[in-house]
Amino acid sequence: MKKLIIANWKCNPATLKEAQELFHLIKEDIKNKDVVICPPSIFLPFLICDDINFGAQNCFWEKSGAYTGEISPQMIKSIGCEYVIIGHSERRTIFNESNDEIRSKIKQAKRAGLVPIVCIGESKDQNTFEIIEEQIRGVEQDVILAYEPLWAIGTGENASFDKVREVREFLKDRKFLYGGSVNSQNAKDYLEITDGLLIGGASLNAIEFLKIIKTAY
Ligand code: 13P
Repeated sequence: MKKLIIANWKCNPATLKEAQELFHLIKEDIKNKDVVICPPSIFLPFLICDDINFGAQNCFWEKSGAYTGEISPQMIKSIGCEYVIIGHSERRTIFNESNDEIRSKIKQAKRAGLVPIVCIGESKDQNTFEIIEEQIRGVEQDVILAYEPLWAIGTGENASFDKVREVREFLKDRKFLYGGSVNSQNAKDYLEITDGLLIGGASLNAIEFLKIIKTAY
């Protein structure tokens, strides 16, 4: 597998204008590359274009119906996305998403023809492997897993390379990304021991993000 670089913009930036400006700065340099941009869903239709991969940051577990406020994987696929992030730790902790809900979302995303990027990882007081075992139970082999320990997200306290290597070995042949305080300084080392990166904060800074892309190509 080629290295995948995924930008998770989370709930940023605050306006469409800013999103378009950020996208404009990176657009030419990410064409025809294994880079996936995951902006807030509401901005997707304004940004989607040929030769660039897009994903949503979340999806619902049903195709359609009376579920006010939800967005289904089929809807995401129908506007031209190929990927969807599922089970990000912010969804698990802030919105109380359970492993069962996440499994249902993965199932529906696959049914819709999207590639799920499933986030896994432990908090400081938890045992990494016990938590991951629970999180991946029943999750099929072809799903991309992104190891994002909670304590490494947005903190500048990135996981050690040994730790990431250990988790990768535990997951054996699965497609494996790392996320958590990735920047242009540490990206190269992580790319050597993973199939790619899931990037939050650094993907909102065009110069920093393009530096990371350069290390991968
Ligand atoms: P940061 O890169 O800001 O630490 O965020 C990681 C993340 O949560 C990506 O999904």
